[in-house]
Amino acid sequence: MSYSVIDRATVLNEALPYIQRFNNKTVVVKYGGNAMISDELRSAVISDIVLLSLVGIKVVVVHGGGPEINEMLNKVGKESKFVNGLRYTDQETMDIVQMVLCGKLNKELVSRIIDLGGKALGLCGIDGGMIKAVQLSEEYGLVGEITDINTEPITAALENGYIPVISTVAQAADHSGSYNINADTAAAKIASALQAEKIILLTDIRGLLRDVNDENSLINSVRASEVPALVKEGIIKGGMIPKLECCVEAVRSGVKSAHIIDGRIKHSILIELLSDSGVGTMIH
Ligand code: ARG
Repeated sequence: MSYSVIDRATVLNEALPYIQRFNNKTVVVKYGGNAMISDELRSAVISDIVLLSLVGIKVVVVHGGGPEINEMLNKVGKESKFVNGLRYTDQETMDIVQMVLCGKLNKELVSRIIDLGGKALGLCGIDGGMIKAVQLSEEYGLVGEITDINTEPITAALENGYIPVISTVAQAADHSGSYNINADTAAAKIASALQAEKIILLTDIRGLLRDVNDENSLINSVRASEVPALVKEGIIKGGMIPKLECCVEAVRSGVKSAHIIDGRIKHSILIELLSDSGVGTMIH
């Protein structure tokens, strides 16, 4: 595809009111899945984040890293076990989760942002006493449920022009260790605690589809109040249910809108935020 100079100017012109509207507002981006594995997509995501930050949007990145955790567990010969879609986390697994998320992935993301001219500060939920959690249920081992979020380390970073990059390991409030936290849930809670303008979930799907087999059946926008009916109708099902629950919870607690977008589409963050029609599903 090639664009004329006029096309380019039109795109920038469409973006202008959004750049103005979101200036100085907080946008939480949950980053995970395939957009994290492919090098090309990773660069596109990071450059979107840097661009948004440079035009004055306060971007907070919350990341997962399931595939990389699996890879490391494989390498050390430890089996990944899932219970109802959540990783069963024993102490040994927790150690690896913490090493991979907070050590490897977090630092990789931070250094990529810095390479592209952004300012980033890597944190995990333990740093600055940001995220406290208790055990979600015995069934999942060391998977935590968030009890408390202290936004201070995040706002301090933002106020100093840094993009906080957060890996979702929390400090245990009920014993002396850490908990593994689902990154979608953590992102939603962080967005709520910050009273963010938006939360964006980068996923491996187009968004909410009326018919899962038809990419053209994308539901472009939906009210939080319409979600329960869509669950009942079976349009929202499987892994989409917890994602939408996170979005609805964030919107109910004051986040203006939640967006489920496709991380496999290059620059989907920019398209969603800075165009009229967006690229995924907006929940408002
Ligand atoms: N860019 C606008 C915003 O971020 C509109 C996005 C519309 N997106 C959608 N999926 N309907 O608020």
